Amino acid sequence: MRFNHPLMYNNFTNLDLVKVKQLLSKRNIILTQSDQVEKFEKAWSKWLGVKYSTFVNSGSSANFISIKILNILSNNSKKNEIIIPTLTWVSDVNSVIMNGYKPVFVDVNLSNLSMNVDQVLKKINKKTLAVFITHAQGFNGLNDRLLKELKKRKIHLIEDVCESHGAKYKNKKLGSYGLISNFSFYYAHHMTTIEGGMICTNNKKIFEISKMLRSHGMVREAKNNIFEKKMINKYKDLSKKFIFLYPTLNFRNNEIGATIGLNQLKSLNKNNKKRTINFKFFLKKLDSKKYFINFDLVGSSNYAFPLILNTKSLKVRDKYLTINNIEFRRGNAGGGNQLRQPYIKEFVKIKNFSKFKNVERIHFFGYYIGNYPDLKKEKIVKIVHILNKIKF
Ligand SMILES: Cc1ncc(COP(=O)(O)O)c(C=O)c1O
Repeated sequence: MRFNHPLMYNNFTNLDLVKVKQLLSKRNIILTQSDQVEKFEKAWSKWLGVKYSTFVNSGSSANFISIKILNILSNNSKKNEIIIPTLTWVSDVNSVIMNGYKPVFVDVNLSNLSMNVDQVLKKINKKTLAVFITHAQGFNGLNDRLLKELKKRKIHLIEDVCESHGAKYKNKKLGSYGLISNFSFYYAHHMTTIEGGMICTNNKKIFEISKMLRSHGMVREAKNNIFEKKMINKYKDLSKKFIFLYPTLNFRNNEIGATIGLNQLKSLNKNNKKRTINFKFFLKKLDSKKYFINFDLVGSSNYAFPLILNTKSLKVRDKYLTINNIEFRRGNAGGGNQLRQPYIKEFVKIKNFSKFKNVERIHFFGYYIGNYPDLKKEKIVKIVHILNKIKF
């Protein structure tokens, strides 16, 4: 059989199927958001080390709702800028734009694919409402300097951990540092719920708003009796069950997704350990003359092998991986430099990309390829053997 290396393999297990079948065979079942969703949220909060989690239908929805919450909480504030990395997923940027904020971009480091903290601190001003960090491809993007400065200057930290489940800074998981954090359970990530995302926080009010924003802005979704009574008294002309407080849509997930999530969560730590061992082995074998290998592995939890070519030649690149049947995505997280995408042109006018040196390199010479728990050492040896033979 011809050699091939997919981005992901066997992410939906037989046991997941058994659990879904058990759910579906119950009589009179409710499959829309119900008990399993709440159970999954509680289990996720416990695993992450936060008080509250809200299960939604995607990581993008988690991004959008998080920035919407900031918007609601800082209603009268004149602060209208959110600092964001150039290397991130498109929904992070769109959540900022769609909530009426100005995205202020910074470059990233090659070593952790996350925000350059010097640039973040330089761009903070009176208008800065928040820093929306992305912990890209399993690497930790936090450090003490950033955390201390944000606290001192009272700037919110929102963490996008969609690509870094289980990664840590010091002894705490990423996603437990920020005011709000986001996860994605899309197919090729650390674990799946088919589609899905999570909004996490230690703040009860934020938790309650997130539940309302997930479901049409409905007051009863907050599940806070005192607050609900207050709203019923305030809006006496409305049906008690239909008080829509915020403009939003339906971002709910369902019982099947939650059932899969609950089962997948049981193997997450074990699978992450395998992936970390795989990644370290892979990096050791990779030719440092041809690829950047100085990644900061402390606390990392990678679901994919990042590859950054040491070349300025566009000649071989994609073609080499395609010929060798290695599935890839170019541009690492989210296809590379977001500033180059057509959707952003209306909002940010940057023609000179040289201030964003590292993301530019990643944009043209960065990739990721699969690192799934079933991947065996022998196969990694073969993959690296192919990769190391690339000629620029
Ligand atoms: C960093 C990051 N944020 C957000 C998302 C969006 O997640 P979803 O695909 O579940 O909408 C992704 C998706 O891959 C991502 O990588």
